[in-house]
Amino acid sequence: MPLDSYVTLGRSGLRISPFTLGTMTFGEDHGWGSSPDESTNILAAYLDRGGNSIDTANIYTNGHSEKIIGDYLVGRPALRDQVVLGTKFFGNLYEGDPNGGGPGRKAVVRQLENSLRRLRTDYVDIYWLHNFDPSTPVEETLRALDDMVSDGKVRYIGFSDVPAWATAEAATIARFRGWAPIIALQLEYSLLERTSEGELIPMAQALGMGVMPWGPLKSGFLSGKYSSATTGAVDTMRTQLVGVPQEADYVVIDALNDVASQVGASPAAVALAWVQGRPGVTSTLVGARRLDQLEANLSALDVVLTEAQRGVLNDVSTPALNFPAENNRTLAPMIQFGGATVDGRTTSVSPLLRTSSTRY
Ligand SMILES: NC(=O)c1ccc[n+]([C@@H]2O[C@H](COP(=O)([O-])OP(=O)(O)OC[C@H]3O[C@@H](n4cnc5c(N)ncnc54)[C@H](OP(=O)(O)O)[C@@H]3O)[C@@H](O)[C@H]2O)c1
Repeated sequence: MPLDSYVTLGRSGLRISPFTLGTMTFGEDHGWGSSPDESTNILAAYLDRGGNSIDTANIYTNGHSEKIIGDYLVGRPALRDQVVLGTKFFGNLYEGDPNGGGPGRKAVVRQLENSLRRLRTDYVDIYWLHNFDPSTPVEETLRALDDMVSDGKVRYIGFSDVPAWATAEAATIARFRGWAPIIALQLEYSLLERTSEGELIPMAQALGMGVMPWGPLKSGFLSGKYSSATTGAVDTMRTQLVGVPQEADYVVIDALNDVASQVGASPAAVALAWVQGRPGVTSTLVGARRLDQLEANLSALDVVLTEAQRGVLNDVSTPALNFPAENNRTLAPMIQFGGATVDGRTTSVSPLLRTSSTRY
């Protein structure tokens, strides 16, 4: 599937590439990112291949990521209108100022103005709430965002890293108030982090939100740099931030490396193809610190995994999910639909539950 086979994001008419370019690595402020020149090369290569979706955040490299993207797009107004440019608010860039970040109205308005200035544009296509703040009433954030949509400064709204219950509450309020809907979710999702399958992904599927996974290579653990045979130092900048894989991770990493050699692709490409093929996923965030990493990662577009290969990867990475996900997957259908056909699914009551014909 090429980058220009666009898909609609959630229950919306917004069409984006199957891989979105992540730009958390753009800029050198954190010490593990890319120079402006390398970042620009990565951006140009992604766009040249037909990619149309770019993700950044106010907080990435303290605003430098947004500035690099803005500097590239400002001289290309037609291109700016073609790309789907997403950025996020929440991260506080003003130490000591309690309203410098977060989702309160005063903070959100200021963060958007500053992001637009750095991005050198007068609107963003997706404005993402970056994280969860239990102190701010969600109505306040949603209404501020809806005003931004009405003002033409924001086209669509997304939520990132917010608990499922809080996202569902927000989506319901927005729906019944007639405010701009939450069309997409960003959440961590990879062969080494699948717990979003318990609540967040089913919620997204039920409520019409597209899923945009981040960390699909688990910060590089799934890129092929690691295996149980070589657990020592590797060529990675991210180690400073996230450390190295845990012992248990190597079971998954080794299985991934095996499948990749069967397929004749890199482990990174296979890990990305696995994520992109999961139920509910619309567009996976691809991270790269260097141009060669981007090229290697985009080769995932050509990877086709067989059912058997997916099965191996699914089985080795099966997550332990919080209650009631597992309980409801196995038990609830038997209790509720015993002996009937519901939505094409025929079930029968477990002998353990069938005590007698008495009805209570
Ligand atoms: N919403 C959120 O809360 C959130 C959180 C995190 C990220 N994001 C978004 O998601 C994007 C991707 O996230 P991520 O950076 O964590 O993704 P990731 O794909 O899990 O990790 C990317 C890192 O893996 C290494 N890598 C990537 N491709 C490689 C390859 N082919 N070979 C070897 N190493 C490779 C690089 O690290 P080295 O420096 O070690 O080379 C790179 O910086 C970000 O850019 C950002 O836009 C969103």
